[in-house]
Amino acid sequence: MGTGLRPLIAGNWKMNGAGAALEQIARLNTLLEEAGEVAADVLLCPPATLVHRAANLAEGSVIAIGGQDCHAQASGAHTGDISAPMLVDAGARYVILGHSERRTDHGETSAAVRDKAVAALVAGLTPIICVGETQAQRDAGAANQVVAEQIADSMPLYEDASQTIVAYEPVWAIGTGKTATADDIAAMHTHIRDLLVKKYGSAGEQARILYGGSVKPSNAAEILRTPNVNGALVGGASLLADDFFSIIVAA
Ligand code: 13P
Repeated sequence: MGTGLRPLIAGNWKMNGAGAALEQIARLNTLLEEAGEVAADVLLCPPATLVHRAANLAEGSVIAIGGQDCHAQASGAHTGDISAPMLVDAGARYVILGHSERRTDHGETSAAVRDKAVAALVAGLTPIICVGETQAQRDAGAANQVVAEQIADSMPLYEDASQTIVAYEPVWAIGTGKTATADDIAAMHTHIRDLLVKKYGSAGEQARILYGGSVKPSNAAEILRTPNVNGALVGGASLLADDFFSIIVAA
């Protein structure tokens, strides 16, 4: 199940990078062109201020550009927010939703994430829905249950299975240098695959399940050959083109 899917290697720059960071996109493009054909879809999600410039720069390349969040409504009195159609207008094709940092920093509930995902799909963006347990939840033996609830409540119905992307990011592995073991990743990704097949039927087998949490050049190959891992969502190691390129090559 879920094998044979084209991997997606996605970079999440979080709140990092100003105009000078665009050099990394140009450098990544050069590395990818020199490498010839790559066996993965490539996505970078810079801060909102860079989406338009990044999309212009990446136009005609294999690098897609995405946002890190969007509002559930298309427009309105929501100071500081950005809507899905605005991201599309700026050149984005994907949007990360429900990242644990947004769930924590902004109190985003799974219901709110689902509304945003619907808005993204309506606007023509592919949402990447993030799920994952905290260390305390894992220690309490609740990881599977937490992720099951997040999948049930955060994920909308899709018309096109290829638009279904989940990122499993155990909160304790994000930015900590700790990664889940290959066995733990395999167990959770297989659990998520089962949940997706229950929710979407056979289309659930076509959904890509990304792993995120301290993915770096040195561990990417092992993680990416784990069953039901169909790509990676990379934070820190996506900021430098050479590191991110090594992860793409590992796929
Ligand atoms: P790190 O790769 O820096 O651990 O971040 C993972 C992440 O949160 C990607 O969304």
